[in-house]
Amino acid sequence: QEQEHKSLFTRMEASSRFFEQQLREHEQRHRAVDYLKGRGLSGKAAKFFGIGYAPPGWDNLQESLGSDKQIIRELVTSGMLIEKEDGRTYDRFRDRIMFPIRDARGRYIAFGGRVLGDEKPKYLNSPETPIFQKNRELYGLYEARKIRQKLTRFVIVEGYMDVVALAEFGIHYAVATLGTATSEHHLRRLFKIVPEVIFCFDGDDAGRTAAARAMETALPVLSDGVQARFLFLPDGEDPDTLVRKEGRDGFEKRLNESLHLPEFLFEQLKQQVDFDTLDGKARLDKMAAPLIGKLPKGTLRSLMEKRLDDMIGTRSSAMAAVNEDTPPEPPELD
Ligand code: CTP
Ligand code: MN
Ligand code: MN
Ligand code: MN
Ligand code: MN
Repeated sequence: QEQEHKSLFTRMEASSRFFEQQLREHEQRHRAVDYLKGRGLSGKAAKFFGIGYAPPGWDNLQESLGSDKQIIRELVTSGMLIEKEDGRTYDRFRDRIMFPIRDARGRYIAFGGRVLGDEKPKYLNSPETPIFQKNRELYGLYEARKIRQKLTRFVIVEGYMDVVALAEFGIHYAVATLGTATSEHHLRRLFKIVPEVIFCFDGDDAGRTAAARAMETALPVLSDGVQARFLFLPDGEDPDTLVRKEGRDGFEKRLNESLHLPEFLFEQLKQQVDFDTLDGKARLDKMAAPLIGKLPKGTLRSLMEKRLDDMIGTRSSAMAAVNEDTPPEPPELD
């Protein structure tokens, strides 16, 4: 199995080399280069992130790498080729800007591919393979650590271009989930490296919904000593567009002023209940207690319990029930 993985890493790396070479040499490279330039990307950033181009056509990658049956099999297993029912194979990624995804050790494990225009789907990602589990990997993590500047926090964004644009402006500590929600595993991973994670999703409904979900996911991971925060962007902006308007200083100022998770949690609840009334307070209690109950036992949890008590004006009975029901802490694995 280890041998199988090794050959898959090799095929993925060779694929990335191929796409990078196509961006330099293919007869239609100008379309791709113009697209990247149009988005304000420098050659240096493109190189650092290994950005490439999958040219139009059904068998460019296959022709270039697939010299024997064994290699074709590996390219199918790694998701780079798609196999039809009759056994014939063709390139998954065609006429797309290619973002290689590397694991923490720098091994090539997957790709995200963006169309040059408005075709759908806008992004095509590698499927799950023996070497790629979406809910474990983060785009940009390898690159952030490779810069070798001291990391004190990570920003979690939605998109590949957000990571690349922020790095281009000197914010080299952004990572993106790969078209999935942020998982507990993602967060545990990041908190092993830094004490602070800031969620910065797009300024649209999807982004705001993602932030609310991320808040719930973060709760069990928030042991004392680590912090999660939320930066909400103006409507219609994402980190890529905003950092280009406001620059590094403007964007980092926003990061520094971002909302701490406990404040976000109570803000959200206040929007959902009228807590000037007694029944509103009871409802607030009922909604807040299970959330606070997800936090590990510790100072933060105690402080939030106290804050809830203060808001409703009495000891939270819903919280008391949660505390009764809380099973003993499981041992720390991982
Ligand atoms: N995404 C995806 N498949 C899609 C659309 C989006 O996997 N069809 C993922 C991609 O990882 C994408 C992220 O969700 O980067 C955020 O989506 P969106 O905000 O729509 O894209 P942007 O990253 O802003 O793309 P761009 O700036 O290139 O238009
Ligand atoms: Mn969006
Ligand atoms: Mn964008
Ligand atoms: Mn976006
Ligand atoms: Mn503060």
